[in-house]
Amino acid sequence: MNEQIARAAALLRAGELVAFPTETVYGLGADAANPQAVAKIFAAKGRPADHPLIVHIAGADKLDAWAREVPDAARALAAAFWPGPLTLILKRSALVPDAVTGGQDTVGLRVPNHPLALALLAEFGGGVAAPSANRFGRISPTTAAHVRAELGDAVPLVVDGGPCAVGIESTIVDLSRGAPVVLRPGAIGAADIARVLGASPVEGGPAGERPRVSGTLAAHYAPSSPLRLIDGAALEAAVREAQAQGSRVAVLARRPPPFVAGELLWRSLADDPADYARELYAALRRLDEARPELILVEAPPPEAAWSAVADRLQRAARGSGEDENP
Ligand code: TXA
Ligand code: MG
Repeated sequence: MNEQIARAAALLRAGELVAFPTETVYGLGADAANPQAVAKIFAAKGRPADHPLIVHIAGADKLDAWAREVPDAARALAAAFWPGPLTLILKRSALVPDAVTGGQDTVGLRVPNHPLALALLAEFGGGVAAPSANRFGRISPTTAAHVRAELGDAVPLVVDGGPCAVGIESTIVDLSRGAPVVLRPGAIGAADIARVLGASPVEGGPAGERPRVSGTLAAHYAPSSPLRLIDGAALEAAVREAQAQGSRVAVLARRPPPFVAGELLWRSLADDPADYARELYAALRRLDEARPELILVEAPPPEAAWSAVADRLQRAARGSGEDENP
């Protein structure tokens, strides 16, 4: 077995934190059954204690240990998509401490599709509570270097599994109150879920029903510089206008720059939602590091395939420019 995995499992058993790769983003993990260990996650992230964490498990055979009611829909989705970028919200079992759920009666469960994460979960044996390994409200990390930049020495070990293949957080489906509700869009779309369940999930619950889903807070996934979404047709004019006002502008688009102008920082990502998602957070980080006065982002197409990317960009636009973690 990988020596790093053995060390990571030993740290988890000792109640310490371990950052590890998943196919979506890097997670900041602790033994989910150990409230003192889980408390370290909230301290390291600067995250409010009532925001629930996802428990990562080694396989669907662990569902019944962590959830007390497992509807057929949950088994079907697990069979179809695990390991993979899907989190299921279910009624929690007695194994799940309040520290993980913020006192809620439900728990988020997921089997990540990354060989090192699966090796760690198998070696550790228990559940690993893990949010994305960023400071609260900031851009999720998709490389081990991002995790170090976010958390520094607050985490004793960062297992390096290279860049994440999916690049944005898992789809979250709430199955705890009957009809399935997509609480957070992700790489697994509503249509994929409908294909398995034979009925479409509700997309996004009424805002009042999900106050504790931190990924749904307005200020989330945010760079430090203000970020604005701009329709593709208006992008060039918006860049020229900001420059005319003397602003240092950075651009994230789905095409190369139409002109070369001064200090303009322009990054183009693929015009394909999966490829775009894979690169998105690293690109935002890189643009943000240049501390531009404004980040202009070409708005994604209004198609279902882009809904997870659009969700993250809209939150970044709403949450940017605020010093949430001084
Ligand atoms: O892809 C992912 O899901 C990544 C990797 C590391 O697995 N994790 C992740 O965790 O994005 P985090 O904590 O950054 O986001 C998890 C989301 C939060 O919005 C949280 O509120 C929600 O899941 N969540 C967790 N448990 C929940 C519950 N019982 N009910 C409703 N929402 C829950
Ligand atoms: Mg997060």
